[in-house]
Amino acid sequence: METLKNKRVLITGASAGIGRATAWSLAYHGAELFLVARREEKLKELKSEISQKYPDLKIHLQAMDVNDKMLPEILAQFTGEKIDILINNAGLALGRDKVETLNWDDVEGMISTNITANFRVARTVVPWMLGQGSGDIINLCSVAGHYTYQGGAVYCATKFAVQAFTRVLREETAGRNLRVMQVSPGMVDTEFSTVRFKGDADLAKTVYKGMDPLVAEDISEMMIFMLTRPRHVVIDEILTTPQAQGSITTVVRK
Ligand SMILES: NC(=O)c1ccc[n+]([C@@H]2O[C@H](COP(=O)([O-])OP(=O)(O)OC[C@H]3O[C@@H](n4cnc5c(N)ncnc54)[C@H](OP(=O)(O)O)[C@@H]3O)[C@@H](O)[C@H]2O)c1
Repeated sequence: METLKNKRVLITGASAGIGRATAWSLAYHGAELFLVARREEKLKELKSEISQKYPDLKIHLQAMDVNDKMLPEILAQFTGEKIDILINNAGLALGRDKVETLNWDDVEGMISTNITANFRVARTVVPWMLGQGSGDIINLCSVAGHYTYQGGAVYCATKFAVQAFTRVLREETAGRNLRVMQVSPGMVDTEFSTVRFKGDADLAKTVYKGMDPLVAEDISEMMIFMLTRPRHVVIDEILTTPQAQGSITTVVRK
């Protein structure tokens, strides 16, 4: 079993949802946390809550937009170029327009955050891991990286891109003690739908109405399982849905 104690873990998108829950799960296992997101107050709140429960844990915060082109320099300074585990999680969906009515700000927002920034984070951290001779990476993909749905052309395209990137990175680093993994959830009740519908919380709630969605802790616990396998074991991917979600487009509601 791999131990996570004192492992230096970088989590992007740690201020909410899956990233936040992963910070808690890793704190329980004694990891040193490097947390990134735009909302500084949410990061500070999280640090203060975790510190109350685990006073000896080292927690570092970096409020930034992962789309910042200076990301490599900022992360280098933030982490000292030493990271054992990367949870490459920051991402979002914007809108549910069909292609004929796509809003171009939404398109660019998804492509730049889910693809360009995600790849840039990996491009920054992978050489550090190769240099130190070990590292684990978990990319947040989605069932939308495997299957498609109407109104999801761009979001699906970005997650298909993440899937391709994960696979290639795994091929390129095989035999060099990097474990490149991926989690692909179906419906998880986080801020995801509120962000997708531009703050319309009522509309966001209808997404999960009459069914039990996954919660962020379900995903973070799966990541802990992946990370604590013996070093020779790579779980390529966990693809997971709530029981009521029979496929990306089949949701059974009470
Ligand atoms: N929820 C789902 O149903 C679901 C399903 C499959 C995959 N996923 C994927 O899981 C990942 C996490 O999503 P979630 O469900 O946890 O959503 P969430 O609750 O909205 O959390 C998203 C996190 O990403 C951060 N973030 C977004 N844009 C950012 C940017 N430009 N720079 C820095 N941080 C940014 C947000 O923080 P700030 O706003 O503070 O920057 C937040 O911490 C995403 O990649 C998403 O695509 C989610």
